[in-house]
Amino acid sequence: MKINKPLCEAVFNYEKEKVYPLHTPGHKGGRGMDKSLLAALGKRAAAIDVSLMSELDDLHCPEGCLREAQELAAELYGSDRCFFAVNGTTGAIHAMLISALKPGEKVLIPRNAHRAVAGALVIGGLEAIFLPPEYDESFGINTQITAEAVAKALTSDPNIKAVLITSPNYYGMAADLKAIAEIAHSRGAVLLVDEAHGAHLGFSEALPPSALQCGADACAQSTHKTLGALTQCSMLQVQGERIDVQRVAAAMSLLTTTSPNYLLMASLDAARAQLAEKGAEMAEAALAVAERLRESLRSVEGLEILDSRVLARSEVAAFDGTKVTVNVAGLGITGIEAGNILRENGLDVELVDRNNVLFLLTYADDNEEINSIINKITEIFQKIKNQNKPILQPSANYELPVAQQVLPPRQAFYAEAEDVAFCEAVGRISIEQISFYPPGIPVIIPGEMVTKEILNYCQRMLALGLPVSGPRDGTLAKIQVVKQ
Ligand SMILES: Cc1ncc(COP(=O)(O)O)c(C=O)c1O
Repeated sequence: MKINKPLCEAVFNYEKEKVYPLHTPGHKGGRGMDKSLLAALGKRAAAIDVSLMSELDDLHCPEGCLREAQELAAELYGSDRCFFAVNGTTGAIHAMLISALKPGEKVLIPRNAHRAVAGALVIGGLEAIFLPPEYDESFGINTQITAEAVAKALTSDPNIKAVLITSPNYYGMAADLKAIAEIAHSRGAVLLVDEAHGAHLGFSEALPPSALQCGADACAQSTHKTLGALTQCSMLQVQGERIDVQRVAAAMSLLTTTSPNYLLMASLDAARAQLAEKGAEMAEAALAVAERLRESLRSVEGLEILDSRVLARSEVAAFDGTKVTVNVAGLGITGIEAGNILRENGLDVELVDRNNVLFLLTYADDNEEINSIINKITEIFQKIKNQNKPILQPSANYELPVAQQVLPPRQAFYAEAEDVAFCEAVGRISIEQISFYPPGIPVIIPGEMVTKEILNYCQRMLALGLPVSGPRDGTLAKIQVVKQ
């Protein structure tokens, strides 16, 4: 069966015509590109870095090949409308929130949301009601939110207009989106899902159901994270009547460059075509290699591996087994140290934290190298185990501290600012958001008060060597606060 790739085909056809470019981009099909960059990209990639040709349609008003490509993606995922996003899921989340809500309206958000959500609060002038997610002490990670907690929050504040859930989370744990969708809808709120880690869901019963299958009104998916699109390529899906799709189109257009990169957009078309051709096969291949890694690591005494046993937790409705989270504290090292040792051995992982290393496996790992890679990882861990280091005891609680919102995020973002020493900022209102990346979950966002707990948490994360994302001063010696 031939799978259509209308956008890819339009781009390739344009290239074949060898039209001389008397227009942007300035490198003119690679002719003027830095030679080393051209060699790395390849001549064809440079030649198809084109934009704004009538044959290639217009992302801001798609009527041709781009519209067809987006329609095919909507059909495949089962949404009513799909928007290609070239500013990652960050851009899709911004558009999703500012189109679903008006300034001053309230959105319910479990606190383990990505920093993109905090950005949308500022851009859209939205008010957030944060809920603390559940916490797993043995891995030291936040898990999900229960449907009961969502129901309780919506009951106590009937003015909440939207619920935004991150599902699955970084570690593959999915919330009970079906129940949450029913609860939200019955209270007149929409359900928005940050499905950055779930663009591959919905194609195999062995994976959690997708947000759309569970009844979400919109979801933002990082096609680049678990599928074949180029980095920075995502999709925003909308279904049903609760969200005005024309407003979503307007928000996407407002937030998107007028010169979107066709290599990026064609990669979304190509990734969708791969899924259409063999989505189930891809999902099962990813699950199989992840299970092989898990199985191999189970032979190393001291490692604790996150697996479907996590479903015993009532807030976790489904588990995506393509994420392999390994707690290395039993080997006497931190996740950060384990990540460094793996890197010294030519391996790079998705995420590290105090206790854990997260290996992300996709359909593309079903290759000839993977068995030797799995053996290498297992041997590295076994070697560390053989050093018989004392088990790393939990030194502190790594649960996200509860922050207190004093000013709406947008008001704080635009407030008159002053720099203060972070260690003296307790009681002051932050203008900045502070996250440790990955996972990029803010400890504090604009408008929240710096507390002793937040200060201690940040200092513990810094001491572990985790990179800071958000504030001007990445060392966190100083922080910008609202001027008194
Ligand atoms: C849960 C979550 N949401 C959103 C994003 C942002 O996605 P992107 O990097 O595609 O902008 C990330 C990125 O890591 C994420 O983990």
